[in-house]
Amino acid sequence: MEGNPAENNYQIFLKIFMKIYITRRIPEVGIKMLEDKGYEVDVNPEDKVLSKGELISALRQKEYDAVLCLLTDTIDGEVFDVAPKAKIFANYAVGYNNIDIEEANKRGIIITNTPGVLTNTVAEHTFGLLLSIAQRIAEGDRFTRAGKYVGWAPMLMLGNDITGRTLGVLGLGRIGTRVAHHASRGFEMKVIYYDIKRNEEFEKEYNAEFKDSVDDLLKEADFVSIHVPLIDSTRHLINKERLALMKPSAYLVNTSRGPVIDEVALVEALQNKTIKGVALDVYENEPALAPGLADLPNVVITPHTASATEETRGKMAEIASLNIIAVAEGQTPPNLVK
Ligand code: GLV
Ligand code: GLV
Repeated sequence: MEGNPAENNYQIFLKIFMKIYITRRIPEVGIKMLEDKGYEVDVNPEDKVLSKGELISALRQKEYDAVLCLLTDTIDGEVFDVAPKAKIFANYAVGYNNIDIEEANKRGIIITNTPGVLTNTVAEHTFGLLLSIAQRIAEGDRFTRAGKYVGWAPMLMLGNDITGRTLGVLGLGRIGTRVAHHASRGFEMKVIYYDIKRNEEFEKEYNAEFKDSVDDLLKEADFVSIHVPLIDSTRHLINKERLALMKPSAYLVNTSRGPVIDEVALVEALQNKTIKGVALDVYENEPALAPGLADLPNVVITPHTASATEETRGKMAEIASLNIIAVAEGQTPPNLVK
């Protein structure tokens, strides 16, 4: 006898009737994995973010069993209300500050993310930003394209070295650790870090130094790179007072979440030369930029593309789909958030 017939029927029922909604087109590999399972997959046909109202209307179309959502979707009680059968919301991102986790927990809805696969890519982008701001690469590109380059000059566009300088890592998760690795191994930087948890193994591996407070780290670092999740305690972690603690020669890089920095205070700090420069991939009110930010020369800005390589976005699609498939098959998804 093979298994319990009622259970087998239930599995067949799930396979045939799983209805999945994807809020915006993602790499095909993830969509195909779900279709190959025989699920009915609906993808938002337009390549744009759905407004809250549009998302709610879309989810009302059918009784969806699962939703694959993006960091640009606000997922809260109102959304859960219109998808009462959805057992899982699989976020296509490592960060999940766009989801009301408490509300999901109350309702027993499973939330998953896509950690791990984007660690290297985001760490590489972080270093790209760091090099670009210190060596004035983006600024030099604009200058050269504008026809302003009229010949080599001893004092033209002098930047700063990063080799041997001190990198302050705020938040020692996977990405922060990888950035520290590149800094230490690649550029012989001294690594200091702050995290709610100390990691002595990491300290030994990279000859890194733990700082007791964010403030102590900011006072000492030549470069500060932010890798914390966005939660209540990290909102405006970098504010006017903290910017004032940084060295006037220091650079700030953020590839985590925009609201970790008070962006208005940041623009002021750059205008007043409180710090030397900043490189950002994320913004407080995305896609809007704080007034004045884009007018400053000592700023490098990328459009939230730190994880955007062909390789990594494909893997993120696979992982998000694997999480849905696990739940559909009655298993614990590999990337359960809480
Ligand atoms: C991107 O920002 C992510 O959280 O995956
Ligand atoms: C995300 O993967 C992190 O832990 O930094």
